[in-house]
Amino acid sequence: MMTVGIDKIAFYTPNYVLDLVELAKDRNDEPDKYTIGIGQDKQTVVPNFEDVVTMGANAASQIVTHENRDTIDTIIFATESGIDNSKSGAIYIQKLLNLSEFVRTIEIKQACYAGTFGLMQARDYVTLHPDRSVLVIASDIARYGLSTPGEVTQGAGAVAMLVSSSPKILAFNNDSVYMSRDVADFWRPIDREEAIVDGHLSTTIYKEMFLSLWHRYKEQTNNELNSFAGFAFHLPYTKMGKKALDQIMDEANPKQQIKLADNLRASQIFSRDVGNLYTGSVYLSLLSLLSHAKNLKSGDKIAIFSYGSGAEAELYSVTLQDEFLTGIPAEKTRQLLSKRKKVSVSEYEHIFSSQRFNSHEDKKTDASENATTVQFLGWQNGERIYQ
Ligand code: HMG
Repeated sequence: MMTVGIDKIAFYTPNYVLDLVELAKDRNDEPDKYTIGIGQDKQTVVPNFEDVVTMGANAASQIVTHENRDTIDTIIFATESGIDNSKSGAIYIQKLLNLSEFVRTIEIKQACYAGTFGLMQARDYVTLHPDRSVLVIASDIARYGLSTPGEVTQGAGAVAMLVSSSPKILAFNNDSVYMSRDVADFWRPIDREEAIVDGHLSTTIYKEMFLSLWHRYKEQTNNELNSFAGFAFHLPYTKMGKKALDQIMDEANPKQQIKLADNLRASQIFSRDVGNLYTGSVYLSLLSLLSHAKNLKSGDKIAIFSYGSGAEAELYSVTLQDEFLTGIPAEKTRQLLSKRKKVSVSEYEHIFSSQRFNSHEDKKTDASENATTVQFLGWQNGERIYQ
């Protein structure tokens, strides 16, 4: 059977970062609650010249090359913090990346899950059209509000992936199991900038759906826990992955338990320093796993668990390809994170409150003129202007 999977992957996050130990002190919380209990050290802070389109374009521009740009037939943009109720973010990306007009562009939404649906659509399309490729972008800003319980789990960023046949990094194994259930754990009415969330319910539903899909997956495939070299979990906060995996850990032999725990830590490293990026989080966890795990080799199987509140989840596996290591932007991602400018709690609060959502006035953002990345310049006649 033809191999279809992820040929290229890249991550982008804005250039400002908040230390969560400083946030904990300011909020009269124990720093250990944030860094150990929840498992987050830092979070990206989003200036008013970044949004899901700029982040998505800045991730995708790293993987669209002279060689592959003409193979791209479709841009699938997955987000739950879109900038327009009508027009797809994918159209802006097409223009910003100078992609052909003869492409399909679409935006999809189901909380943090939509990126996975995008990948599955891309897989099906490329299976039918093996000489074409699909650009899947998962881009979001996780925003809960100042001094809310969710504040420590905020974050932002985009993961872009190119799906093609004969992929360099990993192949999809066509073994997905998935489920949907109407739950009021987290949602965001159209007139609100911040989500309404029952954090403890959401954690419970995440764990339940993982367990339920794990049993279904084992029933429908010949896999067991010892079949996998590691897991990539949706990581709204890094402890969430551990909570899910701990439920089934005793199914593994002792050596495998050590390996899975080591690789879980490897998968959490980037998210610890960025925070939740909703649709992109599970793929940042995958990127972190492939960037940091010491023991992975081609042919290894990785399980991927995608969860989106509301709620929908999917569990599937991928197989690492021969040259996967050379396709992983490990160093580039580390540099992106380490070069971010640190902001104090009061600077973060100011930036948080200065996002400009008013389309009724022409107004410029704080975008700088000499930027090398795509920025949101401001509003003009109700339109968002990018450069
Ligand atoms: P909270 O109520 O502030 O925290 O909310 P807590 O009291 O539950 O404490 C958290 C952990 O810290 C606990 O550990 C404490 O014991 C521990 P646990 O029992 O959970 O293992 N702790 C300490 N540890 C060490 N030293 C200390 C200390 N003190 C306490 N001194 C919560 C935490 C994550 C619920 C909150 O931040 C929140 O609501 N976040 C947003 C929702 C969320 O992330 N949900 C996750 C699942 S839903 C999902 O993944 C979907 C989502 O991404 C959205 C989408 O799909 O679009 C969110």
